[in-house]
Amino acid sequence: MTDHHLSRRSALAGLGGSAVLGALSTTLLAGPDAAAATTSPPTTTPVKDPMGSPPTNKKAEQRVNALLRRMTLAEKLGQLQLVNTGDLARAALAATPCGGVFSVVGAAELNALQKLAVKHTRLGIPLIFGLDVIHGYTTNFPIPLGQASSFDPTVAESDAVVSAAEARRSGINWTYSPMMDVTHEPRWGRIAEGDGEDPYLASQMAVAKVRGYQGADYSAPDKVAACAKHYVAYGGTEGGRDYNTVDVSIQELHNHYLPPFKASVAAGVATLMASFNTVAGVPAHANSYTLRDVLKGSFDFNGFVVSDYTGIQELIMHGVAGDGADAAAAGLTAGVDMEMVSTNYVDFGKQLLAKGRISQREVDDAVRRILRIKFALGLFENPYVDESREVTTVSTAARAKARTAGSRSMVLLKNDKSVLPLKKTSKVAVIGPLAVATYDLNGTWSGLGTGAGTTPPVTVLDGIKANATSVTYAKGCDIESTDVSGFAAAETAAAAADVVVLALGESAAMSGEASARSDIDLPGVQQELLAAVVAAGKPVVVVLFNGRPLTLQSTHDTATAILEAWAPGVEAGNAVADVLFGKVNPGGKLPVSFPRAVGQIPIYYNHQNTGRPADPNNKYTSKYLDLASGPLYAFGFGLSYTSFTISAPRLSSPKMNHRGGHLTVSVDVTNTGKVAGDEVVQVYLHDPVASIAQPVRRLRGFQRVTLHPGQKKTVTFTLTTEDVGFYDNRARFLVETGLIDVYVGNSSDAAAKATFTVV
Ligand code: NOJ
Repeated sequence: MTDHHLSRRSALAGLGGSAVLGALSTTLLAGPDAAAATTSPPTTTPVKDPMGSPPTNKKAEQRVNALLRRMTLAEKLGQLQLVNTGDLARAALAATPCGGVFSVVGAAELNALQKLAVKHTRLGIPLIFGLDVIHGYTTNFPIPLGQASSFDPTVAESDAVVSAAEARRSGINWTYSPMMDVTHEPRWGRIAEGDGEDPYLASQMAVAKVRGYQGADYSAPDKVAACAKHYVAYGGTEGGRDYNTVDVSIQELHNHYLPPFKASVAAGVATLMASFNTVAGVPAHANSYTLRDVLKGSFDFNGFVVSDYTGIQELIMHGVAGDGADAAAAGLTAGVDMEMVSTNYVDFGKQLLAKGRISQREVDDAVRRILRIKFALGLFENPYVDESREVTTVSTAARAKARTAGSRSMVLLKNDKSVLPLKKTSKVAVIGPLAVATYDLNGTWSGLGTGAGTTPPVTVLDGIKANATSVTYAKGCDIESTDVSGFAAAETAAAAADVVVLALGESAAMSGEASARSDIDLPGVQQELLAAVVAAGKPVVVVLFNGRPLTLQSTHDTATAILEAWAPGVEAGNAVADVLFGKVNPGGKLPVSFPRAVGQIPIYYNHQNTGRPADPNNKYTSKYLDLASGPLYAFGFGLSYTSFTISAPRLSSPKMNHRGGHLTVSVDVTNTGKVAGDEVVQVYLHDPVASIAQPVRRLRGFQRVTLHPGQKKTVTFTLTTEDVGFYDNRARFLVETGLIDVYVGNSSDAAAKATFTVV
């Protein structure tokens, strides 16, 4: 989108009133210049075709169009159907071929289905084969929330590279990843699948994943088409309850939820998936503003949009469609191209077309988009996979990558008296319900690919046994039960040891889809187990496995050290041991704020200031009577076994031109401790006076650097007008003149500050 420069006064004057609301989408498309925006109402003539413009690859487009011309209406509607079993695919292929199949695995079965499509249908259009390869196909990497904690896009990319190769070699050519739903809701189970609360971090991680899955050319035998999901604002789900209502302002939609999608489209993502929620009363599956105006119009996306599972049918339950025909008309005209599981497009498409409720142009556009991706995948040239190359076991190389990703994703939250790293010679008592857990350490969305369900992750106990000479084990309790009969043995083991490693947290099933929790404390009697073990008087290192932030106040108050390990994947126990014994110095940072109590949710670092920011000495400010303000652990926070200093920020210029200007921010970061380690240098911006209230800080740059003891490095970030601008409630990207505060440090609490002026 074009930058618009408005003086603050004129931007304010341009806001408000129903005329503005009525013109939202067209304003976005038309992109009025500064003069137009300040002197006259926005034009109502879209400048872009909401069908999107065709891709620049003319040759490929000619093939798409040539095929489209040969297709009957039934064949076209068939391409819009995605089914989820081999039987349904067989039935469809015998009658009117469908477009694709998902959640079916096995190279032989997929080749057999493909053969039916290619050899036994009139046009021989190959099927696309989808699967939720979210953080691993055969080899499980850490959950995405863990990967985001690495603040290292190469971690996300390494997962995507391995996953793409394993999946494609096994017949899957389309993954329903990356999930990029920014959220403020730790109660929402699906927070595990994304990158946490920050749109900038989520954009960086999402783009890295798209690059890893697709490469430069996803027709390659080790690449897949990616799917950016869930479009859009699903993370805003009320109360954190899955599938729930979302109602956001236009500025919030554009500043907070859309950026990772915009970045992914710019990075060439092949497909998007619509989300289950409504956006301002309009279900995302029937939302022509988000799908046509923004995605296909403004972002110029020319791949296809798939519905989520029965998402078109659910338009009836949402209450915007009376029956299946209504649902199909709403979904297709809004811009959902392919229907997953429910069958309204194929069932009612012909009738809707005859009645003029959908147009031939809309149908052709949807088909064209799907064919485009099938051609880009090279499926017409290479519809089959070599079954002898199917991946069914975790390779040594993939394991090594998963182990590195696992340890780079961990965040050290507390380390009193430098109890960590542990000594090899210490007597270690390994205690807790997750100490010998296996598949729970994979987290949600695992075990779907061939071999993944028969490769249990390394346990914490085994990881520690490989590093320490004296190790004992006691379970203590189960993850969720209230049985305390194992406490006595746990206390005995703790008393006899030099140090306790207590593996606590959630099962894999407690986060992910349809796994909201109203209480995000440690489940069952784990808190009581911690108290019992602490009472034995030995240092207690809590290692947490969880798919969401937990409320950890009493854990923080009683444990000696806390390591947030998330769900680390197949190499879990080894990755944990690498960190506990100091082979890897933890360098991860939190991608999401940890609340002190559930009643504090939503709590996030990039909030607005309010007219009465929290002041403990003034009752009439924005806070709770019964709780300290701010999170327990802030966004961007994480400790290390060494210490760092970060200098005051230096700017290359005190000014940035509002039209395409840029400047650099540099800091010196020094390892002032005794061991090598990683620091994540983070840059936050704040616009103290703007036409709409701005977040107190927004992350606009980060770099994870490794430094030897005593080593100093200069880290430089380039800031542009993209970084200082924001969207207003007319969806215009504004770059306003005035002061900008720059904070640089190692968390969202960074204090070192510099200031420049946008002129
Ligand atoms: C529903 C989920 O919301 C989505 O993320 C997933 O990709 C589909 N089911 C397909 O399994």
